[in-house]
Amino acid sequence: MEYSVQIITVSDRCYRGEREDLSGPAIAEALRQAGYALLPPVLVPDEQDRIEAALIAACAADAALVLTTGGTGFAPRDLTPEATLAVCEKTVPGIPEAMRAASLQITPRAMLSRAAAGIRGRSLIVNLPGSPKAALENLEPVLPAISHGLKMLRGREPADCGTLKPAET
Ligand code: MTE
Repeated sequence: MEYSVQIITVSDRCYRGEREDLSGPAIAEALRQAGYALLPPVLVPDEQDRIEAALIAACAADAALVLTTGGTGFAPRDLTPEATLAVCEKTVPGIPEAMRAASLQITPRAMLSRAAAGIRGRSLIVNLPGSPKAALENLEPVLPAISHGLKMLRGREPADCGTLKPAET
């Protein structure tokens, strides 16, 4: 069975119709190719309560994976990581660590993304930066491990990863 994914674009300008959302569709295409089932995309402004509500709704809709794009930088209204951590029961620091490590090979500005990741119920939430290029550069290196994580989160893998053959990890 394929996992469902909810993509949430966080952008004041896209929300006001001043800019086209290119990141959401780019991420959606990458996830479609990776075999995920896409829930209808969501677009919210950079308001922490609106972001939190969208995250909570995605988890309530049983999305296995919730990906946000935008709002991870230093601008005063960049609040996506704060909203994410506010709704998660567990943090998953390794995913943003891996994203930044991989992206630092591409640009030193990768260190400016404050992206977070965490688990709410049976859903994994991962923040991505806002530009389509940055979002894909962050997503691609972590997607294979996310797939393994979702199997554990959704009870389709033994809890003991040591029982898996290397090719299955
Ligand atoms: N990561 C990659 N791979 N490529 C990029 O171009 N841009 C960085 C960073 N991560 C970038 C990247 C920049 S310039 C910023 S400000 C942060 O992501 C945050 O982006 P956001 O505010 O759109 O979320």
